[in-house]
Amino acid sequence: MTTDEQLPMVAIPSMNDTHLEEMLIINRLDTAIANSDVARISKLLDELLEHTTVHFTNENNLMEKGAYPDYAQHKSEHDRHIQELTSLVGYFERTQEPKAIYAYSKGNLTPWRIHHIQTMDTAMALYLTQV
Ligand SMILES: [Fe+2]
Repeated sequence: MTTDEQLPMVAIPSMNDTHLEEMLIINRLDTAIANSDVARISKLLDELLEHTTVHFTNENNLMEKGAYPDYAQHKSEHDRHIQELTSLVGYFERTQEPKAIYAYSKGNLTPWRIHHIQTMDTAMALYLTQV
């Protein structure tokens, strides 16, 4: 479980709201994994992919509108993550194997998100609130 104290805050409040919403989806996903609830894992993975897609599109639009100099690099990291999440959803649909999702969530999904917010999102929000 990730708590809101572990979630880094950036200079744009709407981004923090979105990050918090996604953290709650991931926490629900972790619970469903712990309960080996295949139907709920599947539903939450779809919800996470949909939410993340809208989230990244909104961030990409903010960067583009603000002529953010690191737009291409940041967007490509978003694209890479969406691809990874899409393959994970496909993998789970085929295997229905909660253990693999657990390993990805603990070892990759949550650490990547915290790191991404601390680095790219923090820099971007700071730049866009100062222009
Ligand atoms: Fe981002």
